[in-house]
Amino acid sequence: MTATERQIPILDLKAQHRAIREEVLAAMVRVVDSQRFILGDDVKKFESEIAAYCGTKFAVGCASGSDALILALMALEIGPGDAVLTTPYTFFATAGAISRVGAAPVFVDVEEDTFNIDANRVEDALARHPNIRAIMPVHLFGACADMDAIRGIADKRGIPVIEDAAQAIGAEYKGRRAGGLGRMGAFSFFPSKNLGGYGDGGIITTDDASLAERLTALRVHGRTGKYFHQWIGVNSRLDALQAAVLSVKLRYLDEWTAGRQRNADLYREGLASVPVILPRPRDYQTRHIYNQFSIRSTRRDELQAYMKQRGIGSEIYYPLPLHLQPCYAGLGYRKGDFPVSEKLAEESLALPIHSELAPPDVDYICDTIRSFEA
Ligand SMILES: Cc1ncc(COP(=O)(O)O)c(C=O)c1O
Repeated sequence: MTATERQIPILDLKAQHRAIREEVLAAMVRVVDSQRFILGDDVKKFESEIAAYCGTKFAVGCASGSDALILALMALEIGPGDAVLTTPYTFFATAGAISRVGAAPVFVDVEEDTFNIDANRVEDALARHPNIRAIMPVHLFGACADMDAIRGIADKRGIPVIEDAAQAIGAEYKGRRAGGLGRMGAFSFFPSKNLGGYGDGGIITTDDASLAERLTALRVHGRTGKYFHQWIGVNSRLDALQAAVLSVKLRYLDEWTAGRQRNADLYREGLASVPVILPRPRDYQTRHIYNQFSIRSTRRDELQAYMKQRGIGSEIYYPLPLHLQPCYAGLGYRKGDFPVSEKLAEESLALPIHSELAPPDVDYICDTIRSFEA
């Protein structure tokens, strides 16, 4: 095969689906035949499976990861006049959820090596913004933020921490699972996530019974009894069809994660002598689930074009940090405010890492990057 004939996409959902097709279709047919599409037993079963997987007492399904963040903020009654501390180097939904409930995002820069919130900057931001009511760290690309450091500051001030764990199902911090490291954890089942649905879906994890109860009401318009509304909520439910599919896929998740970890190790071997910066988990990031494997290159755009010519897909997560997004011009941030995020936005490049990627594919990608850098 010539180089140009070889095609390696950034993600190959079709290959994953082929391996589980019969099981998934059987689960879907079962739900369709039952004609019970909203909540119900499949959702309850999946919620308890996720709670067990994340090591939390409760999990409450909802329509997306974005809604999981919004519902978590609503459950804490965060709204107009409040602020929430987060990172500018994340998918838009993190800050978008804060704005959606009427609060304002306050950004602090990230660490260069982990891409996650720099805990050393949190205290200062809290002092400058006394209206901060919660901290929302993101476990970006599948590796946990420094939760002990963040919790240490938050707990001292009595401020809750909401984990944006959308990219981090099964990731561990000092042996403890994402989703159980703060007051609540928000997960996404967007198809490109390690545990991806056949459509949108999300879930919120918590150990707090009263928050779980409130979240369960908020996702159905704040309903606590038939036509009785304790709160003003939203319509955000996990479909029974998605829950049934996700229950099947959850059984394979650890195997798929191991495949991603194997590929990450192969990249580290294959790219050891190449002048690109590779992700290296910190000691506290005891289980990196590699939702993405983002390398850094000062010639990122050229490298991406070079790889594309040779059939290799890649993605830039994220080209424009959130403080520079047009919709946040009113927050008053400027270019230069978060130099680490801005630098990462220019240098980071996510390589294919999915478990269906075979070792020879990783070799080919490493050879290609080596030949570019030579
Ligand atoms: C860090 C982060 N937060 C939130 C979300 C929102 O999830 P969803 O797309 O399911 O709404 C995503 C994923 O898309 C994400 O990557």
